Amino acid sequence: MAKVLITYYSTYGHTYQMAEHVVKGAENVDGTEVRLRRIPELPAAREAMSSDAHYVEFQRSQESIPEVTHDDLRWADGIIWGTPTRYGNMTAQMKQFLDTTGSLWQNGELEDKATGIFTSTATIHGGQETTVLTSLVPLIHLGMVFVGTPYGQNPHILTTEGVGGSPYGPATIAGTDGSRQPIDDELLTARNLGDRVAHVSGPLAGIRRQRLQGQQENAPTYTEDR
Ligand SMILES: Cc1cc2nc3c(=O)[nH]c(=O)nc-3n(C[C@H](O)[C@H](O)[C@H](O)COP(=O)(O)O)c2cc1C
Repeated sequence: MAKVLITYYSTYGHTYQMAEHVVKGAENVDGTEVRLRRIPELPAAREAMSSDAHYVEFQRSQESIPEVTHDDLRWADGIIWGTPTRYGNMTAQMKQFLDTTGSLWQNGELEDKATGIFTSTATIHGGQETTVLTSLVPLIHLGMVFVGTPYGQNPHILTTEGVGGSPYGPATIAGTDGSRQPIDDELLTARNLGDRVAHVSGPLAGIRRQRLQGQQENAPTYTEDR
């Protein structure tokens, strides 16, 4: 049985819609247990956006989704991250949460866990690919094993049309005014990422268990007469 965590931040709901489909894709894989968790909002952002009706409405609508914790990260065999782009990078909300994981890093607690990233950008060239690649950097430090969305499973992203997503990960395009909504092909790539991470998380968890067992067996033993 593989345990997959999908955790996301979303200001207006595009990334959240993608997250819902990543969840569906993971849940479709037999024997997969799935958790959806939101990355906490930053107080400064909440205050700055408090007069934006779309923001306030969307933030209220997802209040019932629990906030992600370190225990969720420990629980999971695979962790999929969703973040809208900010100048081609992850949001400060996701970075802030990642910056609390120092003790997990120190203890190697996230090593050998599968990971994937999905995003939302305003425009087709606004960071569809860079956001995934730049978000990957801290996840590599944490020891996670990256899972993308290759063309074999996603022939629909082999396109010259305005469709979000790339071999690096699923993505949608929100439009410069935020009015565009995720289209079927983008949601399909999102489901396919959930499916792929769910499939590889179980075997990776086995590899992790073996490695941890090997570390214990090779650990020095001390006897009373030493
Ligand atoms: C500070 C800031 C920087 C942004 N930078 C970019 C950018 O570099 N490229 C882009 O396409 N969109 C950019 N956006 C637009 C967001 O990515 C867009 O609002 C988001 O994809 C919508 O997703 P959401 O509904 O999940 O919040 C930026 C938005 C903000 C607030």
